[in-house]
Amino acid sequence: MRIIFTLITFLMVGTSNATNSRDPHSFAVLDQVSTQHLYLDLSVDFQKKTLAGFAEHRLVWHNPKAQSLILDTKQLSIKKILYQGQNKSWYRTTYHLGASDPVFGQKLTISLPKQPERVRIYYQTSPEATGLQWLTPAQTAGKKYPFLFSQSQAIHGRSWIPIQDTPGMRLTYTARIHTPADLRAVMSADNTQNAEKDGDYMFHMPQPIPPYLIAIGVGNLHFKAMSQQTGIYAEKETLAAAVAEFSDTQIMIDEAETLYGPYAWGRYDLLILPPSFPFGGMENPRLSFITPTVIAGDKSLVNLIAHELAHSWSGNLVTNATWADLWLNEGFTSYVENRIMEAVFGPARAQMELALVSDWVRKSIQDIPLEKTSLKVNTQNKDPDDSFGAIPYGKGQLFLTYLEQQFGRKTFDIFLKNYFQTYQFQTMTSEHFTQYIQTQLLDKYPGRMTEKELHEWVYGQGLPETTPDVTSPAFTKVQEQIDHWVAQKITTSQIKSNHWSVHEWLYFIENLPETLTLEQVKQLDNRYQFTTTQNAEIAWAWFSRTIPLQYTQANTSLATYMQRIGRMRFIVPLYKLLNQYGQRELALEIYRKSRLGYHPIAQHGLDRVLKI
Ligand code: BES
Ligand code: ZN
Repeated sequence: MRIIFTLITFLMVGTSNATNSRDPHSFAVLDQVSTQHLYLDLSVDFQKKTLAGFAEHRLVWHNPKAQSLILDTKQLSIKKILYQGQNKSWYRTTYHLGASDPVFGQKLTISLPKQPERVRIYYQTSPEATGLQWLTPAQTAGKKYPFLFSQSQAIHGRSWIPIQDTPGMRLTYTARIHTPADLRAVMSADNTQNAEKDGDYMFHMPQPIPPYLIAIGVGNLHFKAMSQQTGIYAEKETLAAAVAEFSDTQIMIDEAETLYGPYAWGRYDLLILPPSFPFGGMENPRLSFITPTVIAGDKSLVNLIAHELAHSWSGNLVTNATWADLWLNEGFTSYVENRIMEAVFGPARAQMELALVSDWVRKSIQDIPLEKTSLKVNTQNKDPDDSFGAIPYGKGQLFLTYLEQQFGRKTFDIFLKNYFQTYQFQTMTSEHFTQYIQTQLLDKYPGRMTEKELHEWVYGQGLPETTPDVTSPAFTKVQEQIDHWVAQKITTSQIKSNHWSVHEWLYFIENLPETLTLEQVKQLDNRYQFTTTQNAEIAWAWFSRTIPLQYTQANTSLATYMQRIGRMRFIVPLYKLLNQYGQRELALEIYRKSRLGYHPIAQHGLDRVLKI
């Protein structure tokens, strides 16, 4: 039995090696033909909740024998497909749509025996497209106009564009977008800040990008410049607060350039989305998409901006070849984010943020199945959305922090800058990176790190013994207060919490003892009013502690919070806790009211969590 099993495994590995260059999450076959440039002409229909029009691909044929173009699609209805003949006229061609997979969508095979340079796919999206969220006016800040945004990472781009949907390829794009005349469209491309609002918008992205970075937002958007290079698109109601909160964006760019070389993308603007945006942020090039839940009024959560900006080097410039290497993207970005925070806000704050990440990794790794704890993950046949979490982000960041420690900051900074420069506009794999670091660091500076250690970090499970133990002096003081309070040496009113920053509060809440009682929760809430805090991060940390103790006094605030915010990192764990700690009824009641307001990906995930 054992032998047969080993044999099967061997055969399976054999097959996957044969198609090694293929991305398991895409139907595309890049060595036959690839899209060099994409032109989109799409009309936005808020009544029907559809995008309709055509995608024109300019192709480069790599194999003289190739006769077809294979694209990824999901939930798209294809109207017709044309190719351009030698005489520049357009001709219809035949195509075949494969079986529909709920995660990967449908393979679209377009017959193109003459290897034309251009092909046009006329299509329409589904109102349920997983890469788009259509918001009603009630879900916006202004309450008067609808809103649309895309979220293509990891493999949802195919639900609104028929495309080779793999991070292993790059293309440039132009687009013409038609919207209702009173709305503005923006994209991850050049946006004319003062373009006339007339419902007809042109975009151009001259740098080649992986398809998951093509993005669109449409709404009653206004623009305000923060500097020559940076500005904010938001609804009028949110614009001023966002400009004040993110006023350090230009300084962040300057510091990042000093560390890692020139910013390659021209402008850097932010688009502030309504609170149902399912992530904190998304690094769409030239235009990061940002949740309004980080506008705390005190800049305490602006590491999110540093993070999305950091992707301008890690991810957008040097891109993971497949989603199995997500850590090359998110782990590097989390490290760069922390370096930007240190440069702009000083080492004490950066150290606190790093310590919170370290605690998060050490705690959550205990609940992750061991085989899912390596940086390089096996994502074959799996939904890449499921590999988001503490491993690619936190373990990846700790690995780079360790490298910095071992080789010294000066050496490591030069290494990373060279890495971004050497591989700019290219893709990267764990294997390639491991080789690169071997020749650039391990061989050049012997005695700092062994090859075995390097492999353990990239391919090994759990946390290596050499994982840096990150502490923050500020947190040590907070811990003393917790300890005294738990040992009843001081009462709740005697906790010395004057001048604590948001990070100290987060540490405090997250490190309250396992033995925390309902009575203690009440005392803390009486003194600090955590339940009604306006800081979304503190609220989340607090609710995570109060739900298991069935602190029902917080339920009204909790329900409001969960109904308003669609950020999955917050709401998914809260639903799980309610479900797990005897409050399934409350979870279902909140979900009934909120479900239609959540993003399709969040709905999908929560349907599974709540098993409805
Ligand atoms: N690119 C991610 C968001 C993402 C990851 C979307 C994987 C889809 C699949 C973005 O840069 C990100 O990491 N956002 C974090 C920011 C945080 C770590 C500061 C978030 O949304 O919470
Ligand atoms: Zn990221």
